[in-house]
Amino acid sequence: MNETAKQRWQPSRGDWVFIIIVATVVLVLVLGSGDRKTKTTPDDAIHMHATSRAACMSCHGIDGVKPQPPGHVKADQCFQCHTQPEGWAKP
Ligand code: HEC
Ligand code: HEC
Repeated sequence: MNETAKQRWQPSRGDWVFIIIVATVVLVLVLGSGDRKTKTTPDDAIHMHATSRAACMSCHGIDGVKPQPPGHVKADQCFQCHTQPEGWAKP
């Protein structure tokens, strides 16, 4: 009857490594889900009326007046991170 006791699962070294990796990933995701702290879109006439990525990128593309910093995400939804100005003109 000792057979069942022997087969009880004991975490091996490999299991612990796996558990620690999973715990780390969960921790990173939880800590990363806080409020966004990106710069808001300026509250001026230009930004009030820009409604498409193409419009934004005409100034914030590589050759624009104020390019996005190097390594900036290639995402399309600018306002997902840079909140739009108060009273922004919806398309
Ligand atoms: C006609 C040109 C132009 C267009 C179009 C434009 N911007 Fe800008 N943007 C600027 C300039 C110039 C600055 C830097 C001067 C300033 O802060 O006003 C700037 C600054 C910014 C900043 C940085 C603010 C800071 O605190 O440094 C963000 C974010 C931004 N724009 C997002 C956007 C988004 C999103 C759009 C599209 C909805 C957009 N811009 C369209 C010219 C433009
Ligand atoms: C996934 C989030 C995210 C999205 C989507 C995003 N950005 Fe950014 N953007 C950032 C972060 C983070 C920074 C760095 C802000 C800082 O330095 O404080 C930044 C910086 C910038 C800056 C430079 C601001 C400065 O003062 O130097 C500009 C301009 C800008 N983004 C424009 C855009 C435009 C235009 C779009 C849409 C095509 C866009 N961003 C979409 C996260 C994002």
